[in-house]
Parts: sequence; C-alpha cells; structure tokens
Amino acid sequence: MDKERLQHIAIIMDGNGRWAKERGFKRTRGHEAGAETIRDITTYCAEHKTIQSATFYAFSTENWKRPKIEVEFLMKLLDKYLKNELKTYQQYNIRFQAIGNIDAFSKSLQNRIRETERLTKDNSNLTQILALNYGGRAEITMAVNTLIKEGKKEIREEDISQALQTSYTDIDILIRTSGEERISNFLLWQLSYSEFYFTETLWPDFRAKELDDILQKFTQRHRRFGGL
Ligand code: FPP
Repeated sequence: MDKERLQHIAIIMDGNGRWAKERGFKRTRGHEAGAETIRDITTYCAEHKTIQSATFYAFSTENWKRPKIEVEFLMKLLDKYLKNELKTYQQYNIRFQAIGNIDAFSKSLQNRIRETERLTKDNSNLTQILALNYGGRAEITMAVNTLIKEGKKEIREEDISQALQTSYTDIDILIRTSGEERISNFLLWQLSYSEFYFTETLWPDFRAKELDDILQKFTQRHRRFGGL
C-alpha cells in the first residue's frame, strides 16, 4: 500500500468462540489462536511501519460476565502472552501499553503489565495498546472526575482528551471482525471521526493481507471531518 503512515487503528477482535466451535474445539482454543493473530498483526505493523499505534480490545468491563473458568483462562493467557512477547517487543522495537482498570487483576498480572510497559517504553516502530478491563464510558467518567479533582470549573474538549488514560491520538480506522456491527463501549471518545470496517472474518483467521486491503481502501476514502 501507499506508505502514508496512519496514526492509530483500533480492533475489536471478535469470533474466537465461533472459530473454535466450527472446528470442534473448546472456546479457549479459539482465544489461544486469537492471541497468535494479535502477535502476527502487531509484528506485521511494526515491520512495515504503516501505523504508529494499534489498540486491541482484549478484555472489556463486560467480559467478567463470562463463565469463571473462561475468565480465568483469559487472565492466564494474557500473562503468558506478555511473558512470551517481551522478546518480540524488543526484537521488533514495539512499545507496549495498557489501558483500562487493571486494579481488578491479580497483583502478579498487574506487575507483569507495568513491567512490560516499563521495559518497552523507548521502543518506537509501533505502540501496541491492549485494552484490558476497559470500557469507554468508564474511561470518560474517570477523565471528568480527574478534572473535577484538579478544580476545573469549566471543561473543554481538549481537557477531556488530555485527561484520558493515554495521551491518545484519534483513531483513523476501527475494525471489527466476525460480522458483528457494534462499538461495544470501545474508545467512545476517540472514535468520533473514525472510518469503520466490519468484516465477516473470524479474528483467529484475520491476516495481514486483509489489514493491508483495509488500509488501502482507507487511503482512497476522503475524510472530511464534517467539512466539504
Ligand atoms: C471475542 O471472542 C474475543 C475476546 C473475548 C477478546 C479478545 C481476546 C483474545 C484475542 C484472546 C487473548 C488476548 C490476549 C491479549 C492474550 P468471543 O469469545 O466473543 O467469540 P464469539 O463471539 O465467537 O463467541
């Protein structure tokens, strides 16, 4: 594709369960395959430097409602993923960041997340952001509360943007896999002017080629930001 570097893409990774079911596997096998896809897409983006940041919706505030055994599996998988990925982050010059309320996670998982952020903070090919125990409304509410505590009497849009968890750039493209067409409380503030792409592909089957096709289409769309 044309090497116009995008600021930020966001992905709602959906369809792990269906992918596993189609193959007669347990749902957890689908999450393992999904984690491999995160790695493949992340390293591809870092190598090709077409994007500055990529945010992946890995665990939403609503995901706690899943069976306990699946939630526990996802926590273990995340821990294993970060442990194994450190080498990859350093090799591909990837910075790792987390957004969301990770206080709800075990102390050891919280330490793993903070340590991985610290060890990769100077990497610059790509910032990979995992949304963990994340909800868009919760993030905006927290930002407003921060501003109230700072004593702000009147809040401007820029104040909220700056008070959000990461010094966030707007999202250029949101991708959701598996045919569902919803935002599901993801990055509500940052998606204001994003292009949306919905694909039938189940997340474990999502490949760099499809991402490239999407990026290609995006560069052909003319974004007007409300103007003409
Ligand atoms: C949705 O599939 C996916 C999630 C619960 C979030 C994404 C999780 C992963 C890719 C796994 C691991 C992540 C990390 C960072 C190690 P679903 O279960 O809702 O699929 P379904 O709609 O087909 O049931």
